[in-house]
Amino acid sequence: APVCLHCDSQAAIGRAGSMMYNEKQLDLYSIKELPESHAWGSSLDDHPPCDSRNVESIPVIDLNDEKFVMDKIGHACKTWGAFQIRNHNISQRLLNDMESAAKKLFSLPMQQKLKAARSPDGIGGYGVARISSFFSKLMWSEGFTIFGSPVEHASQLWPHDYNEFCDVIAEYENEMEKLAGRLMCLMLGSLGITKDDVKWAVGPTGGCSALQLNSYPACPDPDRAMGLAAHTDSTILTILHQNNTSGLQVFKEGNGWVLVPPIRGALVVNVGDLLHILSNGLYPSVLHRAVVNRTRHRLSVAYLYGPPSGVKVSPLSKLVDQTNPPMYRPVTWSEYLGTKAKHFDKALSSVRLCV
Ligand code: SIN
Ligand code: FE2
Repeated sequence: APVCLHCDSQAAIGRAGSMMYNEKQLDLYSIKELPESHAWGSSLDDHPPCDSRNVESIPVIDLNDEKFVMDKIGHACKTWGAFQIRNHNISQRLLNDMESAAKKLFSLPMQQKLKAARSPDGIGGYGVARISSFFSKLMWSEGFTIFGSPVEHASQLWPHDYNEFCDVIAEYENEMEKLAGRLMCLMLGSLGITKDDVKWAVGPTGGCSALQLNSYPACPDPDRAMGLAAHTDSTILTILHQNNTSGLQVFKEGNGWVLVPPIRGALVVNVGDLLHILSNGLYPSVLHRAVVNRTRHRLSVAYLYGPPSGVKVSPLSKLVDQTNPPMYRPVTWSEYLGTKAKHFDKALSSVRLCV
């Protein structure tokens, strides 16, 4: 069965997602009062963020800092499972264009967006967050997933001028693929792993990818709403661009939820579940969520990077010996998604690593 490449679901969940849009989904941009269907109430306070003035946030790493960059990235992966990067070679012009394209898409009338709704057994298209089926409340967000060519969906959204959107997507994916390869070298390099140990992960024909656009409209009651519920990404790594509105939080043992402030031009990198497995647990995937805002519309664009289809991911042999036995069994991306779709971590009310 087709599987979602982002958060954890097989076709059945896609079906629930598109039904929700057609039957229940509200146009969040025009609602003046938080409906019961979207009121999460106290679950947001489970692990309140500490006073942000006293709490460190995820490291911000300059990729031009040749001497220390690999060590800094390795340390960030071990301690946070996430970091921000500067000097990544993705131009501000391209980040702006991508953000404008996402904004243009989500600004369309609901009726128009529904023309590109994720089909019952599809991966791509417009819909609620993939993890929605795990929760009884709806999230204050909408998403658009691009897997493969965006032409079909884009031509439903803009029958006469979809080229501009598709060109931006193509350029963005192309640049992100190069960056993901570079990050893989640095993240794995810090563990003593070279290109030869994981050829598929670093070459130009490297992994498989998808793009997830997220929109979080301004919300009349942000303290009781949830933008995107807590989850780890089912990827090897995720590269996230957020607009100038904060909302992303990462969970750190001992600190609780920590805000990841938007920094102009910087990108957020998350360790995903499959890197957690590859590294035999040395790089734990980061639990994160998105909260919403009373006055500002937040947008984010996630580049989801995983292994080519059919490749089994397992703890790298260089990281395994008698004292460090493999902690995870080999899985393909789609096998992993199938397993994860059946698990829900009640303790943290989140969708996270399982093998
Ligand atoms: C995501 O986890 O896919 C998006 C998080 C965000 O919007 O910051
Ligand atoms: Fe995520």
